[in-house]
Amino acid sequence: MPIKAIAFDAYGTLLDVYSVGALAEQFFPGKGAAIATTWRDKQIEYTRLRTMCDQYADFWQVTGNGLDYACALHEVDLTPDMQAALMGAYEELTAFDENLAQLTRLRKAGVPMAILSNGTHAMINSALTAAKLDGLLDHVLSVDDVGKFKTAPEAYQMGPDAFGLPAEDILFVSSNCWDVCGATWFGYHTIWLNRAGLPMERLGVEPKARARSLKDVADYALASFSG
Ligand code: LAC
Repeated sequence: MPIKAIAFDAYGTLLDVYSVGALAEQFFPGKGAAIATTWRDKQIEYTRLRTMCDQYADFWQVTGNGLDYACALHEVDLTPDMQAALMGAYEELTAFDENLAQLTRLRKAGVPMAILSNGTHAMINSALTAAKLDGLLDHVLSVDDVGKFKTAPEAYQMGPDAFGLPAEDILFVSSNCWDVCGATWFGYHTIWLNRAGLPMERLGVEPKARARSLKDVADYALASFSG
């Protein structure tokens, strides 16, 4: 099946959500990695609970709440200065090294590209600017505009609406397996960017393809692209 456009997830896929662990480690020696992991897990859990219960609050608030919870769980004292510094680091997350070259390659081949993220416009834009990726995308889509987080169908529908294409013509790329499963159920042509070598979720759904790097994703996309 040919593809005509690509929609990328942002957090974990293009931006390294665990890069904040280094700063957390400076503040809380010995606990940085654990705090970063709990922070991410709680952030995602809260997006799901809020969407299921129709209690939307934007990703910035949910991210801050996840950080508060992680610090409470790991029994560290989060001062207002530390909170501001860690949230600031989240606004400028480290991008994976290969991104710029691979997105530039896709851009030169004329592949229309979007980000479809749970993040707010402000969060995504500041992270993309910090990573120098901001000029490479045709659309930056934030679920904030529909008030529901992925995996709600309304959130995934933003991709087809922006490109004017059916979901099956759009390659959806995520390193988050749950996101790939949701996007596959929705109808996208999906590829799981499994950088961490994790096992497949047991949900009875499979992505169309799998990759270990963004280079693999770009190779697959260019081989499948029909503009
Ligand atoms: C995003 C998170 C879910 O960018 O990774 O949407």
